[in-house]
Amino acid sequence: LESFWHPKLLKGQRVLITAGPTFEAIDAVRAITNMSSGKMGYAVARAAIEAGAEVTLISGPTCLTPPTAAKTIAVTSAQQMLEAVNKEIGETDIFISVAAVADYYVLNPSGQKIKKDAHILTLELAPNPDIVANVMNLPNPPFCVGFAAESENLYEFAEMKRRRKNLPLLAANMVQDAIGQEDNELILFDDEGTHPLPRAPKIVLARQLIAHVAKLYHHSGN
Ligand code: CTP
Ligand code: CA
Repeated sequence: LESFWHPKLLKGQRVLITAGPTFEAIDAVRAITNMSSGKMGYAVARAAIEAGAEVTLISGPTCLTPPTAAKTIAVTSAQQMLEAVNKEIGETDIFISVAAVADYYVLNPSGQKIKKDAHILTLELAPNPDIVANVMNLPNPPFCVGFAAESENLYEFAEMKRRRKNLPLLAANMVQDAIGQEDNELILFDDEGTHPLPRAPKIVLARQLIAHVAKLYHHSGN
């Protein structure tokens, strides 16, 4: 209803969103992952659609139904998510990286199910590529928005992360407040400072985030 009365904030803009976790295979049935329900990323996709954007959603494994108005690409691993992002990024005006990408992958996954025994199993892990950092390093990056999940020192760690990745906007949340829940609390970090968004349903926060993204995006000369 709200969007009926307001001019569409992102009319005609192409918005690419990653959401959910990635799964990094250990063997045919096991994986390591980074906890994420996908609810925040899917809410951001819905809010961007409401704002008139053309939305592509690249999603790791979740139990959610993607919005029908989005073009959805399902991926499993971080490597697959990176490849899907690289394919879409040339036709993207705004990239919002909500996915909880697993930071490591298993070096030698087994094609067959590993049989358990009573011994200690050691996995060798190698770092995954940082997808949003990769996008920021492109010659002509789109307007990029990051997320940060922290369990402590939220303000310090989130602002460090924003600077390290050179992001104009980063939305931070405490994992204890967020993962798997219907509600969340976000703090937005940009060049002006911090903007706390009090606890609310994820779709409400997603709409507030999209409004902020639209403001910065249009002020950045687009
Ligand atoms: N991200 C990404 N690719 C990765 C890891 C993270 O694109 N391999 C993105 C996330 O989608 C998010 C932002 O980077 O937008 C921050 O993710 P987060 O996990 O909070 O930070 P990291 O940089 O991975 O650092 P750490 O997990 O050590 O806090
Ligand atoms: Ca991480």
